[in-house]
Amino acid sequence: MSETARPVVVLGVSGGIAAYKAVDVCRRLVDAGAHVAPVMTEAAGRFVGRTTFDALASEPVQVSLWGERSPIPHTRLGQHADVVVVVPATADVIARYAHGMADDLLTATLIATRAPVVVCPAMHTEMWEHPAVQANLATLESRGAVIVPPETGRLAGGDEGAGRLAEPAVIVDAVLAVLARTGRSPAPTAAPAPASATASPSASASAPASASGEGGGDLAGLRVLVTAGGTREPIDPVRVITNRSSGKQGHALAEAAYRRGAAVVLVTTTDRPVPGGIDVERVETAAQMEEAVLRRAQGADVVIMAAAVADFRPKAAADAKLKKSAGVPEIILEPTPDILATLGARRRPGQVLVGFAAETGDVREQAAAKLASKGVDLMVANDVSAPGAGFDHDTNEVTLLDRLGGAHQVPLTTKDAVADAVLARVATLVARR
Ligand code: CTP
Repeated sequence: MSETARPVVVLGVSGGIAAYKAVDVCRRLVDAGAHVAPVMTEAAGRFVGRTTFDALASEPVQVSLWGERSPIPHTRLGQHADVVVVVPATADVIARYAHGMADDLLTATLIATRAPVVVCPAMHTEMWEHPAVQANLATLESRGAVIVPPETGRLAGGDEGAGRLAEPAVIVDAVLAVLARTGRSPAPTAAPAPASATASPSASASAPASASGEGGGDLAGLRVLVTAGGTREPIDPVRVITNRSSGKQGHALAEAAYRRGAAVVLVTTTDRPVPGGIDVERVETAAQMEEAVLRRAQGADVVIMAAAVADFRPKAAADAKLKKSAGVPEIILEPTPDILATLGARRRPGQVLVGFAAETGDVREQAAAKLASKGVDLMVANDVSAPGAGFDHDTNEVTLLDRLGGAHQVPLTTKDAVADAVLARVATLVARR
């Protein structure tokens, strides 16, 4: 950890076409008051010149493991870093880092450091979607790396798709959020506008205001996993069992958590648009949601289960469409896994769990019972029979019950305001961990 007044950001640049955007990230971090120590891979040198980083960064760029300025540069960089950020992170660097390889200065520094690491992938869509890349990223995330997911847009060679590096403003916000969380926020040295204020229109549209302002917010540096929507359990290739959840409240929570500075993963059953900067995974069934949530929860500080997970599913979905002529089918149901209860039983120390209880009747009593039986920290009790509340409305009315016995009523308001009320309680629970 650095002893200098300015936080030390090791900026790793690997060899992809998006390396030119790392120049902008470097400039913005220096303007924000960080000491930026750039490290390039050999391949990065094919995309951007060393002189550019030498001129803009706080110290000369380093490329080699073999002592340009120090006999063991990776240990020096690793030990002095307050945060290491890799912009862009190619599939190759992600793989080498995930597998503990240390065959160049950048990967050796990543392995040698105890500082938090922010990984900003950029690659062609086919590579981004490859299971090997996704598995390597999941490994890094489970070890605590913050992943700033790529956006969808124009790629090298004129292709369109997922894999374009996140905007520099979004990356700088993520780095500043990590520094804020570790108490190493820089004091700005230059007088430029805050990072995101100078972002392109697409960046400011994708990064909500407070997450992109000072990189602060009461959830800065936290990794928040949110689920949303109702699961769909197949009966046959055309029919499903589902419920009336629209996903609006879950999506509002994900967006609000992002605005408050968190790195957000959203596992959703809906095809609602999601702002860039939020890492979204789309699923359909309870089984798929369980797989995604248990995998993603390993790296999460907070998990909010806003999804309406089906409690029962057909024991066996028919392979072919069930025909009327064959008579009324008898559909045997089986229970689905209770994802929240599993999370409650296996939670990481310090992880905060939030559940939703969509009820009719004695809402508060039933929600309190679920709070205890599922082992969660906060239960959002939702009377879905109240006018203007619950499924598919833009408004909601809830009571927040916490494990310490607190109860906080949120009168009928927008789902965005409900999301903020829930997250304010979450911030308090996180602070008490
Ligand atoms: N939940 C879950 N997995 C399930 C069912 C529910 O993770 N298979 C989660 C929901 O996302 C929610 C909480 O558990 O956060 C409560 O869900 P709810 O449907 O109200 O409770 P159930 O346990 O399913 O009980 P019941 O439907 O009988 O009221």
